[in-house]
Amino acid sequence: MNVQGTIRVPGDKSISHRALILAALGAGASAIRGILDSHDVRSTASVLRALGVDVPALGPELTVHGVGAEGLRPPGRDLDCGNSGTTTRLMAGVVAARPFTSRFVGDQSLSRRPMRRIIRPLEAMGARIHCERGDGLPMVVYGGGLHGVDWRSEVASAQVKSAVLLAGLVAGVPVSVAEPMRSRDHTERMLAARGVDVRARDGTIALAPIATLPAADVDVPADPSSAAFFAALAAMAQGGELLLRGVCVNPTRTGFLQLLRRMGARVEFLDETTRGGEPVADLRVAPGPLVGADIAGDEVPSMIDELPLAACLAARADGTTRVTGAGELRVKESDRIATVVENLRAVGVEAEELPDGLIVHGTRAPLRGQIAARGDHRIAMAFGVLGTTAGAEIAIDDRACVDVSFPGFWELLARAVAT
Ligand code: S3P
Repeated sequence: MNVQGTIRVPGDKSISHRALILAALGAGASAIRGILDSHDVRSTASVLRALGVDVPALGPELTVHGVGAEGLRPPGRDLDCGNSGTTTRLMAGVVAARPFTSRFVGDQSLSRRPMRRIIRPLEAMGARIHCERGDGLPMVVYGGGLHGVDWRSEVASAQVKSAVLLAGLVAGVPVSVAEPMRSRDHTERMLAARGVDVRARDGTIALAPIATLPAADVDVPADPSSAAFFAALAAMAQGGELLLRGVCVNPTRTGFLQLLRRMGARVEFLDETTRGGEPVADLRVAPGPLVGADIAGDEVPSMIDELPLAACLAARADGTTRVTGAGELRVKESDRIATVVENLRAVGVEAEELPDGLIVHGTRAPLRGQIAARGDHRIAMAFGVLGTTAGAEIAIDDRACVDVSFPGFWELLARAVAT
């Protein structure tokens, strides 16, 4: 298989959620260009609408008229977050700071995901939160009357960090969050771009209250987690190269690109620039003889969403790849350790589960079999990429689930492959 062409993948999912939320909380009109129009971001838009914010239909350019931190209204209906953990956890932080009750619901996958990680800090700030079943959704947040907190998170999670920062922002109280490893920092960058005093020192992020959050426009760069599928495709190809335009290359998100280099692919950053506080570049990716790698420690958060794809790439690399320190994968849209290993085996790749990671033995044999994506968008796309390799015949049970983060994925994939 050869690759060719220039591709612009859709807008970054994390930045899109945050652009909507901060626009809603701002004073005045904020324009958002290049937002990701996917199921997850639509969930955030619809939750904001339920809270009284007039969010227009998502499109290439939209304007949100912010209601300010105190303008959110008690929701007249459940806040349905669909499949989106980011919507749930960030918006839980927002509504915890308001003096009303909100009930969060979601699909089956989201309802299984742990909420205690945000419940504990928000309760430490004075909110009361009740999960109707165990540790997951449905979850009722009784908000209001928050005070500041210095929280030490056990997991490196941007969702936990952002929930606390947003609760502090909306309540107008100082907060800090210490994280064991650095997680993506889009919330901090976007707040700083609006003049909020938010500082990172020695692994702790501290936010000082601001009376009024100013409105600000956002240009959403292309999503590095979506670009990763095409970077992997180019890395595994027999020839050619792909140019990926306008990708966010925030260092908290580029772990997978570093990994590709380490495994032997050619990855160049071209025309690096900064837009709205985020570094952006075009990426040129070309194949190389791939070798297995060890993935562990600090680099895990910087490629957390790309690890299923890394495991698929490892299936086509020489030697063994070992991922450790990635127990978080078990609580994503599916148990991504179990789902990846099960599916690699289903197509003839030797793979083993570890409690906090996995081991993959590369093979050159053609890969054939049936994938059970478990409704997980990143599993479907990772195996979709693997399905383009020489001699592969991989059938995926649920191709439509990619709409959670990447509508149009299959069409772009077909376009990039020049056989
Ligand atoms: C996200 C943070 C990550 C990531 C998710 C998006 C965000 O989750 O896996 O896809 O936008 O904050 P954690 O913060 O829970 O690791």
